[in-house]
Amino acid sequence: MIDRETKEKIIETAEITDVIGDFVNLKKRGTNYMGLCPFHNEKTPSFNVSPSKGIFKCFGCGKGGNAINFIMEHEHLSYPEALKYLANKYNIEIREKELTAEEVEEKNLRDSLLIVSNFAKKHFVHNLHHHEEGKKIGLSYLQERGIREDMIERFELGYSLDQWEGFTRAAIQKGYKQEYLEKAGLTVAKENKRYDRFRGRIMFPIRSLSGNVLGFGGRTLKKDDKTAKYLNSPESDIYHKSNILYGIYQAKKAITRSDKCYLVEGYTDVIALHQSGVENVVAASGTSLTEQQVRLVKRFTANITIIFDGDEAGIKASLRSIDLVLEQGMNVKVLPLPDGEDPDSFASSHSASEVETYIQDYETDFIHFKTRLLAREAENDPVKRANLINDIVRSISVIPDGIMRSVYIKNCSGMLDIDEKILYQETNKIRNKRARQKYKKEQGHREKEEKNNQNLTTLPSFIQEVYSETQEKEIIRLLLQYGEKELYTYKDDKYEDPKSLSVAQYIIKEILNDELEFKNLIYKKIFEEYLEALNKGEHPDKNHFIYHSDEKISSLAADLLSPGYELSEFFRKKSGIYTEPEEMKLKMLVPEAIIAYKRKILEKAQKDKVKEIQEAQQENRESGQIMELQQEYQTITSAINSISKDRGWVVFR
Ligand code: CTP
Ligand code: MN
Repeated sequence: MIDRETKEKIIETAEITDVIGDFVNLKKRGTNYMGLCPFHNEKTPSFNVSPSKGIFKCFGCGKGGNAINFIMEHEHLSYPEALKYLANKYNIEIREKELTAEEVEEKNLRDSLLIVSNFAKKHFVHNLHHHEEGKKIGLSYLQERGIREDMIERFELGYSLDQWEGFTRAAIQKGYKQEYLEKAGLTVAKENKRYDRFRGRIMFPIRSLSGNVLGFGGRTLKKDDKTAKYLNSPESDIYHKSNILYGIYQAKKAITRSDKCYLVEGYTDVIALHQSGVENVVAASGTSLTEQQVRLVKRFTANITIIFDGDEAGIKASLRSIDLVLEQGMNVKVLPLPDGEDPDSFASSHSASEVETYIQDYETDFIHFKTRLLAREAENDPVKRANLINDIVRSISVIPDGIMRSVYIKNCSGMLDIDEKILYQETNKIRNKRARQKYKKEQGHREKEEKNNQNLTTLPSFIQEVYSETQEKEIIRLLLQYGEKELYTYKDDKYEDPKSLSVAQYIIKEILNDELEFKNLIYKKIFEEYLEALNKGEHPDKNHFIYHSDEKISSLAADLLSPGYELSEFFRKKSGIYTEPEEMKLKMLVPEAIIAYKRKILEKAQKDKVKEIQEAQQENRESGQIMELQQEYQTITSAINSISKDRGWVVFR
């Protein structure tokens, strides 16, 4: 670990125009510098560097950050690697922070596993090219499949001999410890037996982003059914299959260059496509695609195209992957192959230019794909048609970016001939529901640990909210005006630092606890957008609402946030004369606003219940039913009593 002082020295020394100037031709424009953005293709410069602020920003593709971010992004390095790069550039001596004994051990273990994996790779490559069995069985197999020598080299393919411990013995002879061989999953030791995990297999090394060998996939060359076709390294301290994409090391340059990544299923698919010139391709070999894998690709491009076999299983898997990619805010396309083909067979039986043409012609966006897939069955069946629409709406609703969502909604509306408004409504419904669930789930964790329970009285579950204009508005005002202000701090644990709860978090917690929804649709929308921002871990900027595209929201926000509003009628009526500014009284004001809102709902519910009981009595309904209503009346009444005792300043004492 690089120590803090070294880090600061690097940051101080690394002049941003100098750092970026190594890669981009910068021209001075006023106080800033401009150049052609290295992260996307452009003809006129939109890449801006500000030496005074120490930051860069591309107005074309949106990438931006400081000098370290630039190096990380451009050279595909991790944070510490980027620091080392800069230290090297400026001849700064790196002082490493002293590691704890535990950290040293962990680091040594990882390093040792990387070392034995690298040795194994070399051993397998050597077998393939120089051992009789390797040449006769392994190499000739690859040649039969038409895999070229340059691909064998590029992917460092190898061969594990069909012997019990050919590899293990060779490794131990070279001085590698059996402990590490076992921990890397290369050697299996049981009781007194010890043997190689991989025997008689073509070996596909699986490499990290920076090229380290983390594990292997091994394909058997035996024809019997008993042997699994592929055997992969087990999870280890270096190999976590859900974080790894096969081929990412060999593909990353091409992915950046083409600003696009193809996703296929297996090792041989990756290699075959490389061989026909498509190098921006990776595989989630042996697992269904994971979120981490998608994020790995996202470091290089926002565009993923899923290539899959035309059979049912292939289609199913691709459908699962689509939403995963959309959720990360990336663009997803799909490319179905002709029935019975996988990328490997397709690429091997077609010329490079045929492959390219096919990709161009058959790549479609996910809505087209889903529509076409399901339209056949859905054509004359209204229920199936509704399901299809729901399915597409659900996919659209996971897209984080609002503009992108609306583009897809427009597409979908045209293609399926449905009103855009309805699609918006449905998408928002799903998003709102999900946002509430997410917040409550996270809140739930927090709450469980919160020692002193600071919740207000909760409403009986059978109660419906009513229109409460004044109270809803007051809550929204407090949310907009003071949302990010700290309301109070609490400790989960006496040893921990106190955590802070903001006004917005408090309001949202209370509203969600009772599953309330504002009746005024503008307030509701503001609330929901606020919630969405909190889910991302931020408080929205005031300007977000003041400059909102929905005019009703922007004018309301401007109104509520104007300085005069602080002396609201509402507040005067409630507390009489006061001199302190509102901000000093949030601890009281905020809970009071919630209490007023809930009380309004309760009182209306109480009145309604009385009416309901009277009606039931007039209609001579069963006594059981009437008693149930009276029970509910009681419940409401005691909630009113209880909430009347709730007081902000008491709660927070
Ligand atoms: N796979 C695996 N374990 C298995 C079967 C498959 O990990 N038992 C993974 C491998 O990454 C494989 C991919 O799933 O590459 C796709 O499987 P499959 O289509 O069966 O293999 P191919 O790549 O087509 O291999 P080959 O052409 O050599 O049969
Ligand atoms: Mn195959």
